[in-house]
Amino acid sequence: MFVVFGFIVFCIGMLARYFFSTDRDVNNPPGPKGFPILRNLIDLVMASDNITKTLGVMLDLLFAKIDDNLGTEVNIDYLFHQPILTIMWQMVVGRLTEDDKAQVKLISEKAERFVKSGVVGMSIANAFPFLRYVFPTWLGRTAQVYFFQACKTIGKKLYHESQEKLRASPPTTFQPNNLVEAFVQNCGNDEEIFNCENFQVTFQDLLVASSDTSNSFLEAAVLYLIAFPTVQEKIYQEILDIAVDGRVINFEDRKRMPYIQAFILETHRNARTAQNFVPRRVLWDFWYKTYKIKKDSIIMVDTRLYFEDKTIWGDPEMFRAERFIGEHGELENASKVIAFSFGKRNCPGELHVTMLAFLVLTAVLQRYKISNPVGQPTPRLDMKPGLALKPYPFHVVFEKR
Ligand code: HEM
Repeated sequence: MFVVFGFIVFCIGMLARYFFSTDRDVNNPPGPKGFPILRNLIDLVMASDNITKTLGVMLDLLFAKIDDNLGTEVNIDYLFHQPILTIMWQMVVGRLTEDDKAQVKLISEKAERFVKSGVVGMSIANAFPFLRYVFPTWLGRTAQVYFFQACKTIGKKLYHESQEKLRASPPTTFQPNNLVEAFVQNCGNDEEIFNCENFQVTFQDLLVASSDTSNSFLEAAVLYLIAFPTVQEKIYQEILDIAVDGRVINFEDRKRMPYIQAFILETHRNARTAQNFVPRRVLWDFWYKTYKIKKDSIIMVDTRLYFEDKTIWGDPEMFRAERFIGEHGELENASKVIAFSFGKRNCPGELHVTMLAFLVLTAVLQRYKISNPVGQPTPRLDMKPGLALKPYPFHVVFEKR
């Protein structure tokens, strides 16, 4: 009897060790050898919990900003930028100390100056590179350089910190918890790719690609919410139906919230945040209609014609979320929206920003009513050219629901 009892305790102990041990061989998939899928599932649950917590930090920052200005006119320009960067920072660095917050603030300010330095100067400098040394400030080069320098310095510090941490722990037990650690862990395997300089570039690219686009998209969403108050009320009604007791809306709820999803798709279609995809180099001569496109030409996709095509959308000039709602109230035509491109080089941040947009918009609308300031004309609905397309500056008033 005692032997059987001892054996059972031993087995439970071994299983617990398998599931909860953090000692993992870096060359194997996570989890104990016999149960990698189970352990992967546990990892996934933990990761999704981390995302929710991380987003909580972002929302706290955003709500604090809004609560300070309740009932007054708030300039929407760059309102979401720093909170969005904070999320990216946590994904890359895995923590948010007071010092980290200061770094995020610095990057956000420099990014804002860089983005606002304008695309015209940047384009002229791309066409005639020597001019950037003649008129650096006028062409926006100074602002660009300050931003890149800030990212490079901070990126280098993060890289070396992680390298120290890796050196201090035995290689077989080091488990990366964030991007910088995962990157540094690979350095020994392929130094040509995984080196400090490439981390600095990855770091700055990720921050630029994620923050300006997501911020511009959310600004556009707010613009449409105040321009079409009935749309805002419909979304609010959907929130009330799902969270009767005012509980936090989670990503799983989206399946029962087709209207806000349709609103997000229609915002992508109208705002076209990344209207031009990244440039491609042609690999061989080819014909497009009557045009011969020569090898090595640079080509770019422009989605405007697609998103304004009457044969696809019927009434593309209208903001109409209902175009994504089927006969029985279900979401439809979602795959027609190509805001994140498609194919091998499509946007790697699509899932991230889809979750972010849904969770941020529902959390904000559950808490606040957003309106155009009384007596002021509705702001213009066309978008301003820049790194990403974004609304022209406008003000809104937030009131507590
Ligand atoms: C509303 C938000 C966003 C939109 C509309 C958007 C859209 C796009 C588009 C159209 C591309 C070009 C793809 C191509 O040329 O085929 C792209 C590239 C990229 N995006 Fe996004 N994006 C958004 C948010 C994000 C976020 C949040 C991240 C990071 C978490 C991100 C990271 C990237 C990166 C790294 C690339 C370059 C990929 C490559 O060159 O291979 N984006 N994005």
